This record gives sequence, C-alpha cells and structure tokens, in this order.
Amino acid sequence: MKKILGMALAFALTLSLAACGGGGGGASSAAPAPAADQPSSAAPAADAPASQPADNAGGGDGVITVGFAQVGHESDWRTASTKSAQDVFAASNGYDLVFVDCDNDSARQLEAVRNFIQQGVDYIIIDPIVATGWDTVLTECDDAGIPVIIIDRTIDDSDKYVSWVGSDFKIEGLACGEWLKAYAEAKGISEINALVIEGSTGASATIGRTEGFKEIADREGWNIIASQSGDFTEAGGQEVMESYCQSYKGQFNVVICQNDNEAAGAMTAMDTAGISYGVGGDVILVSFDANRPYVQMVKDGKINANFECNPMAAPTVSEIIQQLEAGETPEKQVYVTESWFVAEDAVSKITVNGSEQPVILVTQEVVDGRPY
Ligand code: AHR
Repeated sequence: MKKILGMALAFALTLSLAACGGGGGGASSAAPAPAADQPSSAAPAADAPASQPADNAGGGDGVITVGFAQVGHESDWRTASTKSAQDVFAASNGYDLVFVDCDNDSARQLEAVRNFIQQGVDYIIIDPIVATGWDTVLTECDDAGIPVIIIDRTIDDSDKYVSWVGSDFKIEGLACGEWLKAYAEAKGISEINALVIEGSTGASATIGRTEGFKEIADREGWNIIASQSGDFTEAGGQEVMESYCQSYKGQFNVVICQNDNEAAGAMTAMDTAGISYGVGGDVILVSFDANRPYVQMVKDGKINANFECNPMAAPTVSEIIQQLEAGETPEKQVYVTESWFVAEDAVSKITVNGSEQPVILVTQEVVDGRPY
C-alpha cells in the first residue's frame, strides 16, 4: 500500500517537475508536496526510537522503499556516489529508490527529507550538504519512526540517526599535510607557500580537510597565502585559481584543491597563466577524491598527489538496512577505506595521527583498478 502511494506521489511530482521544466540535475524521482490525505502507514508511533525501522517497513510486499537526499551533481565523485546508490538500491535488489538531487541547496534538502516522511518511505538516506541545521528534521524522522542513515558528510548538531557511513575528512587533510612535509624534505624544498581551493562552505568535507591541512601547516610554519571556496566544481576551481594567478603569480609553490574537479579548473587557469605544475613543475598540485581520470593524471605527472575520498557507501548502507530489517543494531559510525596516491616514489609512507600509512605510487595497473 505504502509503495503504491509512494509511486503515485512520485509520478505526480514527475509530472509537476516536467511542467516546471525540470527539477535540477537528474532526479529520477523526487519528493512531492505533502498530500492532505496522508497514508495511514506513514504515521508510525510518535516515540519510535531512531535505531528502529517503522513497523511496516517493506510495505508488506517485500520491497523496501528508500528515499535518498543526495547533495547534488557538482563533481565526478558525486556522480560515482549516485551511481553506487542507484546500483545498490535497484528494484532487482528488492528496493524502490526515491532519489532527489538537491542541487547543493540546503533548503531543498530539508524539503526532500520532509517529503520522504510524507511519502512514508521505509528508510531515509541523507548526504548532508552542510553539517548543521539538522536536529529538527531528524526529530521529525524519528517521530515518524523512519530510520535515517547518513552518508559521506557528517552532521554536527544532532545524533538522531541510526548510522553514519563515510570518510574521516580531517584525516584526509592531515594525510595531505604529512605527505607534503615528507615530499618537500625529500625534494629539498625548504619553503611552502600554499594556496588552498576549499570545497563548499559549511560542508564537513571542507571543514575537515581545511582543519587537517592547516594543523600540519601551522606545526611546520608554512605560509597559507589564501584559502577560498571553489564549491567543489570545476568552474569554481578555475575561477578561484584565475584570481589567485592574478594576485599571487610567482609567490606560491603549492596548490591544494579539495576535490578533483577543482583541480581540473585550477590546471586550466594555471595553463592560461603560463604556470607549470605537477612533476617537474613550479607548483606542487594536490587533489582529493582520486576518481579514476584524476588518478591517471597522477600517473601522468600532472597532479603530484591525490587523497582518496571513497564514494561507495551504498553497499554498507544496504547491509545496515538488512541488519535493521533483521532486528539487529548496526554500528553508529562506519568509516570507508581510503588510500593516498602519488606520482613519484619520493615518499612511500607517512604517519597520520600516530598511524603509519602507505602511500601508493600510481602505475597503470593502479589506474585501471580504480573502482570509480
Ligand atoms: O563530500 C564529499 C565531497 O563532495 C567530495 O570530495 C567532492 O568531490 C564532493 O562534491
């Protein structure tokens, strides 16, 4: 019953989106405006705890309906994350995925979650655009008895979710800093003058990477000349780098891009400005994410180092849902595994937060083995 209502609502919204000329970035199904006549199955016990599924999870037909409020479509990483979710939560796996591309708009993401509640989905997955402003809507999910699973980015102001699956962004930033320190030592580079192109403001990925890198920079006495948001997009990275090139040409020897798409934009801007980068260049170029085309750029020497952010959370989320279906209590926090990729064999390992970690020299085999 719940599934039929959900499908009808999704169909109605598809029509309304089509009438409005689209809903932003490829939503395959999106949340409708709340219907006046709520399905009764969408109103579970008010005091259902965050760690329990709704009584009627699965809608009695064996199909599990999952609403996913995705950040947007700003990067190659995001495309990989969306594809992973669409593959895992496919009908052939017993799921009905209601996917909403929130186009990097926090208000739209909150609305999507509220619409999932109205639809009476069995589970809600959120990749939070920003880290704060979540407690009210998560309380509403909890009151509706719908378990919420957070992926990728973290939420700082609420713990009203069952599990979070994602990356330790501060560790990524620390790893970047520790590698740069070791690389500079190995190459005899005594001074670091860095420009940072941050990700989207307020995103935990941005906050963690910025904090981690800055911690090492402060410890080593490096100069961070400027640190501005490129919004995790190629256009944003290019725009910020163009302005950096105008303001600081000849004054910097490191550019840290907080994702691969920004690195692509930064490369375009440096090419135009006649600034060399990568192996043998004047500028050490660092990126995050490690999407396959950008690991290829590490292999080709255009990017010196790339710190992975793993987008494949969906299989773990499916396991969590199956645990909940079986009445089990999943882990509250699950970290995805990540690796660090480099172009030269100057550094083979680094110590990050007291833990020794390998640094992978990229070969063609490494590139070809990348899952995304
Ligand atoms: O939250 C993960 C970050 O968001 C990725 O680094 C970036 O590419 C994405 O847009």
